Amino acid sequence: MANNNEFTQQCSFCKRKIKVKSQYDLPIYDPATGFAICSSCIKDIYHFIEANDIKKDAIKEQETAARIEDDLTRIKPHLIKEYLDQYIINQDHAKKVLAVAVYNHYKRMKYGFEKGDNEDIEKSNVIILGPSGCGKTALLSHLAKMLNLPFAVTDASSLTEAGFVGSDVEVAVRNLYYAADKDISRTEHGIIYLDEFDKIARKSGENNTITADPGHEGVQQALLKMLEGNVVEFTARGQRKHPEAPTIKVDTTNILFIVGGAFVGIEKLIAKRVKNNTSNIGFGAEVADKKIDEHYNELIHQVTPEDLMKYGIIPEIIGRLPIICTLETLDEAALLRILTEPKNAPVKQYEKLMSIDNVELKFDEDALKAVAQKAIKRKTGARSLKGIIEETMLDIMFDIPRSDEPRIVTITKDCIENGAAPVITNK
Ligand SMILES: Nc1ncnc2c1ncn2[C@@H]1O[C@H](COP(=O)(O)OP(=O)(O)OP(=O)(O)O)[C@@H](O)[C@H]1O
Ligand SMILES: [Mg+2]
Repeated sequence: MANNNEFTQQCSFCKRKIKVKSQYDLPIYDPATGFAICSSCIKDIYHFIEANDIKKDAIKEQETAARIEDDLTRIKPHLIKEYLDQYIINQDHAKKVLAVAVYNHYKRMKYGFEKGDNEDIEKSNVIILGPSGCGKTALLSHLAKMLNLPFAVTDASSLTEAGFVGSDVEVAVRNLYYAADKDISRTEHGIIYLDEFDKIARKSGENNTITADPGHEGVQQALLKMLEGNVVEFTARGQRKHPEAPTIKVDTTNILFIVGGAFVGIEKLIAKRVKNNTSNIGFGAEVADKKIDEHYNELIHQVTPEDLMKYGIIPEIIGRLPIICTLETLDEAALLRILTEPKNAPVKQYEKLMSIDNVELKFDEDALKAVAQKAIKRKTGARSLKGIIEETMLDIMFDIPRSDEPRIVTITKDCIENGAAPVITNK
């Protein structure tokens, strides 16, 4: 490629005189200062950096292995349950299932580090079902806090098949990557929670009337490989996807996937199936909706992969979610406990807030009962508890800071049911 522009220039690093025929002979050259680096020096630098990166990756991998080894003593199933008990009322079955799944996930990772691969132990991906507001998301966020693993929640209903407007399924892994502070090794051993998973059920499932639904089925298809374990590629946050954009690669083989949702109406599918069995729980020829509601807790624990399939989850996905974890509806007694017992119970939160204004906050027993009953009417589980108290507390939280005097504020049944003003007495 000889041409008239051929010249000789000294490499500022190796000091060799380089005959420059093309820019590749001297990739870095500043004619103004004469600073130059020849191609062979650049290659050396590249190899040096790459070797160092590999060393760093190996160190990170060792760190992850050591951390998992340490954690194995701390996250025994009964200890996980004890921790969750501090925040979540009831749902003992779900707590046990999750505790064992997570413990097995750790064991599988340890085995993988020791033996080099862990194909002998099946991945324990979990599907979690239960009514709205019964603690699915709360359970997992507390679990994540206890575990020393990166954990990311992605709303499955926001995912779309590649090529459609919305986020590709890789976003779930990208979220985990950021939760792991961009540490690939930690990302590859984390937990991904796909919330609202029922929203990507095929609309042609028995529970729905629309027949064709390529979009949702496409998302499920796209999730398949990720759940099973393969290398997922994605671009950094804020970077547009185009062919030249640098990508980050993450192997999902050791990532634990938990998918969850309310699966509204699945109890009807279960009831229908159970009715046809001889060992049913007392359903007559007709499966009345009211009866199904009453027996929700018994029914939901009997859910089978076939029910999920009928609901519109494709069989290949169900096959990759071997563990089914079910949560129950919360009755009045459970709601009452949720109001006062958990570490972050709504009543405790308001007591703390008011104490800063020198106020002792008291709830009459009847008032708490009224809150629970109101929540049951709203049919959103424990979700509306805090809102109901908030409605009652608004005026008092507005007016109390007018003075610093120590006072006692009592919330009565009348406050909750009829919006009466709380009783204020001086201390
Ligand atoms: N069993 C429980 N014990 C203590 N608090 C609970 C329980 N269930 C729900 N809560 C509280 O109620 C609120 C809503 O619960 P959460 O978000 O977990 O519901 P969910 O089951 O994920 O519902 P959805 O299906 O609508 O997403 C949270 O603030 C949570 O703390
Ligand atoms: Mg939720």
